Amino acid sequence: MMRRRAFGRALFGGAAALASASQVEAKGEAEALPRDSTDAPAALSPGDAVCVADFRRIAAVQLPRPTFEYIETGSADEVTLRDNVAAFQRIKLLPPILSGVATTDLSTTVLGVPIKLPILLAPVAAQRMYHPHGALAAARAAAACGTVFGVSSSAANSIEEIAAAADGPKWYQLYVPKNRNIARRLVERAEKLSYKAIVVTVDLGEWKDADRRNRFMLPREMLLKHLQDVGFPDVDPGMSHDQLIAYNAAAWDQALSWDFFDWLRSATKLPLIIKGILRTDDARRAVDVGLDGIVVSNHGGRRLDGVPASIDRVAAIVEAVGGKAEVFMDGGVRRGTDVVKALALGARAVLIGRPYAWALAADGEAGVRRVVELLRDELQNALVACGCRSVRDVPKSLLLG
Ligand code: FNR
Ligand code: LAC
Repeated sequence: MMRRRAFGRALFGGAAALASASQVEAKGEAEALPRDSTDAPAALSPGDAVCVADFRRIAAVQLPRPTFEYIETGSADEVTLRDNVAAFQRIKLLPPILSGVATTDLSTTVLGVPIKLPILLAPVAAQRMYHPHGALAAARAAAACGTVFGVSSSAANSIEEIAAAADGPKWYQLYVPKNRNIARRLVERAEKLSYKAIVVTVDLGEWKDADRRNRFMLPREMLLKHLQDVGFPDVDPGMSHDQLIAYNAAAWDQALSWDFFDWLRSATKLPLIIKGILRTDDARRAVDVGLDGIVVSNHGGRRLDGVPASIDRVAAIVEAVGGKAEVFMDGGVRRGTDVVKALALGARAVLIGRPYAWALAADGEAGVRRVVELLRDELQNALVACGCRSVRDVPKSLLLG
C-alpha cells in the first residue's frame, strides 16, 4: 500500500509506519557517527561551539544515528534541502560604507507580540528524542532569549507542560486530527494557555529515504503519550507499539483544503498563520481568507523535493501579499547574514529548525540558548557592517542585483 500524501511519515503514518515495532527497536540504537568525513573531531564540546555548524557536529556524535538522520535529512535526493542553504549563499550583500552606525536595535514585533530578535524557533517534532528535557528546554531557552517558541503538534510534550515550563511567547503548530472535536479542543487549549497564534502546516509529500531505511519511529512510550496529549479518547495504554503506529497513521487529516480555515476561524480568535507557502497565488488566497501570517517554507526540504529554496520565494510573496499579512520564512538559515538577506527581501522574521534541534541535542536548554545567541551576535555584527540601525528597516538595496 502506498499513501499518496502524508504528514511526516515517520510520525504520522505512511511508509515508515508499515514497519513493525520489533523491526523498529532492532534498528533503534545504531552507532552514532558524523555524517561525512569532513566533520570535526568528536572532541568539540558545546561550550566551544562558535557557529551553528559546530552544534551539528556535536549532535552527530551524541545522537543515535537514526535520530541524527531524522533531524538532518531531507526528502528524496535532497535537492531542496541543499538549495535552501545554497540559495542564501548565492545572494550577495552590498553594504554601504561609513554609515556611522555602531549598534543595531534587533527588537521587533511579530503579529503584535514584542520580541528581542527576529529569529524564532520553528515547530520541531520529537524533541525528547534529542534531549531528555526536550521541548521544555527549548521553550525555556526561547523565553530567555526573548523570542517565540513554535510548538510542534508532535513536540513530545503536551501544550500544557510546555506552557508551564516557560512563559515566553508561543505559537501552536497544528496538525489536524480527522476528528474535528479534538482539533477544536486543541485550539481552545492553546488559546486558554495564552499561546499567541495557531500555525497550520500545509505542505505535504514527505519522502525521506534515511527515515525509511532506518524505520525511524517514535518509541512506544513517546507515541502513546503524544496521542494521549493530543486528546484522542480511545487511545489505550494497553495498546502495543504496532497498534499505536496503526492508530497514528489513521488519525490525522491529510486532505485539508482552503475551507478548513473558515472552520478554524470560527473555532478561535487567535491570529492564524499558514506555514508552507511557495506560490504567490496561494499567498494572495491566504490573505483573502483572512490569515494573519504566512511562513514561506518548504519544511526544511523535508516534504516535496525539487521545490525552490524558501529564500528564493520571499520577495515575490512579500509583493503579492502587499502588507496585508506578515511574511516569515524558514529553511537554510545558518548565519546572521542569512537573516539580513531575508529581512532585506521583506521577511518580518525568520524561523530556525535544525540549528536548535542540533543545539538541543548537544547541550539542552543551554545549547539552544547559545545557538540563538550566536545567531543574534552574528546578526548584530552584520547589520552594523551594513549600516542598519534597526531590524525593522533593512533595505533591499543591501542586496546585489
Ligand atoms: C521539522 N519541521 C516541522 N514543521 C512543522 O510544522 N511541524 C513539525 O512537527 C516539524 N517537525 C520537524 C522536525 C525536525 C527534526 C525538523 C528539522 C523540522 C520543519 C520546521 O518547522 C522548519 O520548517 C524547518 O526546519 C526549517 O528549515 P531548517 O531551519 O531546518 O533548515
Ligand atoms: C517532520 C514533521 C513531523 O518534518 O513535520 O519530520
